[in-house]
Amino acid sequence: MSDNILDIQRLSVAYQSPYGLVRAVDDVSISILKGEVLGLVGESGSGKSTLGLAILRLVPPPGRIVKGSIFYNGVDLLRVDDETIQKIRGREISMVFQDPSSSLNPLMKIKDHFIELFRTHEPNISDKDVEERSIEILKRLGIPSERFNDYPHQLSGGMKQRVYIGLAIALNPKILIADEPTTALDVLIEAQILRLLNRLKRELNLTMILITHNMGVVAENADRIAVMYAGKLVEAASKEEIFAEPLHPYTQGLFESAPNFLRRVRNIASIPGEPPDLINPPSGCLFNPRCPKRFDKCLKEHPPLIDVGGRIVACYLYGG
Ligand SMILES: Nc1ncnc2c1ncn2[C@@H]1O[C@H](COP(=O)(O)OP(=O)(O)OP(=O)(O)O)[C@@H](O)[C@H]1O
Ligand SMILES: [Mg+2]
Repeated sequence: MSDNILDIQRLSVAYQSPYGLVRAVDDVSISILKGEVLGLVGESGSGKSTLGLAILRLVPPPGRIVKGSIFYNGVDLLRVDDETIQKIRGREISMVFQDPSSSLNPLMKIKDHFIELFRTHEPNISDKDVEERSIEILKRLGIPSERFNDYPHQLSGGMKQRVYIGLAIALNPKILIADEPTTALDVLIEAQILRLLNRLKRELNLTMILITHNMGVVAENADRIAVMYAGKLVEAASKEEIFAEPLHPYTQGLFESAPNFLRRVRNIASIPGEPPDLINPPSGCLFNPRCPKRFDKCLKEHPPLIDVGGRIVACYLYGG
């Protein structure tokens, strides 16, 4: 399908731990449409960050991509050589990481972050060009150009996050993966950052994967929603469809337990029970121990993702 900018097929990623293999992403297939904002939601530990990192082949050891394909422009990112994936990172596909320690270097001025970034990708770029392009980006982000000479600690949390987002979009990527871009911020700043991301998306024609715990954030910002549970994709559909009628009992649980999600409930509210142990997962559907609608078949095998009128869901209630 030519409207897909990214095609993830049967992706599995695992971390080796002393207790066994943690199946963090298990046989996930999903396509990202050009120009959309895909909201990726799920409880903590469901594999959202691991999926984002796998797209750029940045899963840290002891993690490993076990199988699958990720097609971008007809090329399987999991099979290109290191040099090619390095060129794609930042320039074609860029990521705002969840881990704040990987954001700004406290010893480098804001300016130097931009210089380093541009130089890495365009070794011959002149100082003047770096300055012009960086200031243009800062302007876009609503940061006064004097801030260019500041160190990160001189900026507020919200401004730091803007700079960090600026670095992620500086090379004009086609796809931005934003992993919990607002969790560390207070609600007002969060709203500003989300507005900024929305504006950048429109102005730069970005496709975005927005990873979040916050149902309010997807309600306001996503076009389509993908729900992960215990490393599995359990449902994906347009925001309107999911909100009107969540199909998967897990998604239904998310909404029932967060009736106020449109009024900015911060986090996914808890559903009774615990997510499963990913080293020794339960047999059958991974959600069955917590599922109010389970029946015999659910105890045997995890359901495949099936198409239900253009939406996808992995649940035997709908076939499979
Ligand atoms: N370095 C690691 N070593 C071992 N296990 C890991 C490592 N990183 C992640 N995991 C495990 O992989 C699973 C998926 O983690 P991941 O960080 O992708 O989830 P997440 O959905 O992003 O969670 P959160 O919402 O808390 O950010 C979890 O069970 C986690 O414990
Ligand atoms: Mg995460």
